[in-house]
Amino acid sequence: MLSYRFRDGVQVGWGEDNVVITAPYATRLNSIRQSLRIDHPGDSLKSLLKDLVGTGVDRENLLILDNAFSNKAEHRELLSELDKFYTKGLLLTEISGSEGTAICLAPVKPSLHRKTAPEGIYRIKFSKFVIVQPSVDGLEIVSPLATGAVRLKDQRLFTILVQLAAACDEATIRGCLPDDLQSHYADVISLLLSSGVAGVCDGWGVADIDQDAVEAGWTFEDLAFHCHTREQMIDLCRNQARQTPIDKKQFPAKHQRIIRGSTALPLPSRINHNLSFFQVVRERKTIRAYQEQPINAGLLSDFLWHSMHIREEISCDPGLSRAYAGLLKPVASAGALHSIELYLCINRCIGLQPGFYHFDSSDHSLGKLCDLIDPCLQMLELAAASTCRAPQAASVSPSQGQLPDVLVVMAARYGRNASLHQQTGLPYALILKDVGSIYQQLYLVATALGLAPCGLSFGSSELFQQASGHPGLLECSVGEFMIGNPPSTHGFEPKAGVVG
Ligand SMILES: Cc1cc2nc3c(=O)[nH]c(=O)nc-3n(C[C@H](O)[C@H](O)[C@H](O)COP(=O)(O)O)c2cc1C
Repeated sequence: MLSYRFRDGVQVGWGEDNVVITAPYATRLNSIRQSLRIDHPGDSLKSLLKDLVGTGVDRENLLILDNAFSNKAEHRELLSELDKFYTKGLLLTEISGSEGTAICLAPVKPSLHRKTAPEGIYRIKFSKFVIVQPSVDGLEIVSPLATGAVRLKDQRLFTILVQLAAACDEATIRGCLPDDLQSHYADVISLLLSSGVAGVCDGWGVADIDQDAVEAGWTFEDLAFHCHTREQMIDLCRNQARQTPIDKKQFPAKHQRIIRGSTALPLPSRINHNLSFFQVVRERKTIRAYQEQPINAGLLSDFLWHSMHIREEISCDPGLSRAYAGLLKPVASAGALHSIELYLCINRCIGLQPGFYHFDSSDHSLGKLCDLIDPCLQMLELAAASTCRAPQAASVSPSQGQLPDVLVVMAARYGRNASLHQQTGLPYALILKDVGSIYQQLYLVATALGLAPCGLSFGSSELFQQASGHPGLLECSVGEFMIGNPPSTHGFEPKAGVVG
């Protein structure tokens, strides 16, 4: 039997002369749920809706035009309403055999296209992006590209998993079905294709649903992250199931660290230079080489002040339940959350001891966490080795890269971001966007100060964890940036100096 019923999260509200069906899909921005209003529903439609809310409707029964329908038009309208619910991702499709529901299509997006097997000879297989997850009543097959999840509830169907890993023809799929489900082989194929977890293969064995992603070289990890963070409409039920409450107080705006000792940085100098903002923008470039003489504490202080110091603590979204304390800094941050902290691996800097420090952006000081212990040295070496990737220069071997005077490590307090953005599903995406914003700020400020800046692509959260002593998922490194004193051949000397 093939039957339909409303998926979880669908609500039906009965008015006097209308019915409003509220979907579990909502915009990420403001959680407004999609809804469908039907004015003056006839008795047969009301009865269909009641069945869909309850135990479901059997497709065969519905297709038969019997005495329940006074005319053909009413029957057609009913089928068209059912189709509308299906394409809006409101219906669970269940195929049952002698042992109950065997396989089920649960939509996860607000649009679902019914597909059937093509005419003639064809082969189908799973999308290369599917994952199989255990669920309370069987196995769930999902894919970032799919519009529905397929649930295998009857263990007798588990062999399908193995078969569909490679391209297989209709006869092979039929062979996976127990006797009581044989008559439904076309429905099972249609269910798999409609969900988007499987597709029809081309001559090279690529499933049709995967073609663009394969052509563009997407990896599963990137595709999952991209789809998860860029969809405008989200499935509230799935999102809520994944969420755990976060204690906001644990993640205040200003981050206090337990440190071995604090070193106040010199107050920012009045910068004695003639570069206009537009000259800075024009001059900005990556420099990966440094002179003998390292940078000094005054320059480092200016660099940090003009990039990251806290100008003001503000109250965000006051009056709303999600009210929180935000920060204003020279650099922008989504939601004024500023969940990224700067750590400095100071290799050499006149006026400061080498070591690993946390920058306190509130009182403009450096808190020492440890000396330049092995993980710090490894971070510096990894940074230097990353400069062999300089695309414009002749490639150098990893061992030829110069150690920076200071390696800036950006570490994210995920919980602070999640305390606001868990519901939107965007914490990590916004963290990475904040990292980009910080990279550009560091580039521009370093250029204005005559320092040698270089953003980095490679970093190690493990090394950061070892150096900082943080539990890795409370605060984890997400970006690295090198600075140093550029060789004089680069045309500009440090331009900052303390005046007076
Ligand atoms: C996010 C990011 C990552 C980067 N990663 C590296 C890197 O790993 N190694 C490196 O030598 N340069 C790296 N760079 C610097 C780029 O190679 C550099 O910006 C690019 O070659 C253009 O040169 P320009 O900055 O002088 O305009 C990175 C820059 C950014 C913004």
